[in-house]
Amino acid sequence: MMVCEYKPGLEGIPAAESSISNVDGQKGILEYRGIRIEELAEKSTFLETAYLLIWGQLPTSEELKEFEHEVRHHRRIKYRIRDMMKCFPESGHPMDALQASAAALGLFYSRRDLHNPVYIRDAVVRLLATIPTMVAAFQLMRKGNDPVRPCDDLDYSANFLYMLSEKEPDPLASRIFDVCLILHAEHTMNASTFSARVTASTLTDPYAVVASAVGTLGGPLHGGANEEVIQMLEEIGSVAKVRPYLEDCLQRKAKIMGFGHRVYKVKDPRATILQDLAQQLFAKFGSDKYYDIAVEMERVVEEKLGHKGIYPNVDFYSGLVYAKLGIPTDLFTPIFAIARVAGWLAHWKEQLAENRIFRPTQVYNGQHEIAYTAIEER
Ligand code: ACO
Repeated sequence: MMVCEYKPGLEGIPAAESSISNVDGQKGILEYRGIRIEELAEKSTFLETAYLLIWGQLPTSEELKEFEHEVRHHRRIKYRIRDMMKCFPESGHPMDALQASAAALGLFYSRRDLHNPVYIRDAVVRLLATIPTMVAAFQLMRKGNDPVRPCDDLDYSANFLYMLSEKEPDPLASRIFDVCLILHAEHTMNASTFSARVTASTLTDPYAVVASAVGTLGGPLHGGANEEVIQMLEEIGSVAKVRPYLEDCLQRKAKIMGFGHRVYKVKDPRATILQDLAQQLFAKFGSDKYYDIAVEMERVVEEKLGHKGIYPNVDFYSGLVYAKLGIPTDLFTPIFAIARVAGWLAHWKEQLAENRIFRPTQVYNGQHEIAYTAIEER
């Protein structure tokens, strides 16, 4: 067997062959199934993009209508799941609530009929449909309120915003939220996607696949940075304080949240689109001093760190958009999960099509032939 050099974090080691998405980090290009993200953000919807990712091609209008109908009519969650969620501590993080709830779905639909296209379709629809309902239900229940029932008259994104506030959202707000979901739906072999594929490779059920990926996404090095961007903008407080704040960070060698990326060495294309969405929101609903602080930060970071390829990543402007939509900061990562379910399910299907269980090796650096010491002699 070929022995490879050990690379911490498997950096640069291909973990799968995939045709789902592609990133060119030098040119700032992201494609889903070969289609540029800018085009999808302008012309597609989240559910159409999810279909594209999961089934490999854009749906016909009939296929899309049927898919949207199925998702719309599977949004409700069982009362037993609601009752279980009511017992979660209100101080718990919504990502932990989501991971537990996604896993609980597997208790009700645990059949592992992985060669049956009907089972696969049913699992895809159920997960896409119920994850937003579970996120919104926990948000209301942790404040002591009953969850809001999904509204069949509203599309995917409008319904999620409605379930959070019980008010029908503004159409621009719904469209912008939908574009945010498109932008976060998939991003090649990141930590949570790898986690999803490893879990899928054991041939367990898709609810366990999504629950393991949600757990992986929750960490601050992966999905959690957008919460920290908002905290940082609040801490800076004014445009005048941006430069001293950044100079202090650079002197302390502290990382500036929302900047830098392992793959992108130019501005993340998703950050460009999100900045435009933020501008649209502020134009309609009033400007926000945090947006002005963010723009000044981008200018100063580019001046100081542009030569190292440090530019805004997807998390820099997404928090500003969500905050303007009235979404609480600790729901930013669960919203990332709502979108990324599409990518995880696409990878689940791709993994099953050519499955081999993941079983990497290790470099053992412990001892050998150590004698057992009796407990009274230790
Ligand atoms: N602020 C200041 N300097 C930075 C930043 C940053 N945000 N990111 C990288 N650098 C500098 C490093 O200090 C290092 O400089 P040096 O060569 O002089 O030592 C150089 O750029 C390379 O940095 P690494 O940490 O080795 O880059 P890596 O590819 O490992 O890290 C990461 C990428 C984790 C995203 C990093 O840029 C970072 O921590 N950013 C802030 C957190 C963040 O925004 N995370 C969200 C990422 S997007 C996502 O997961 C959805």
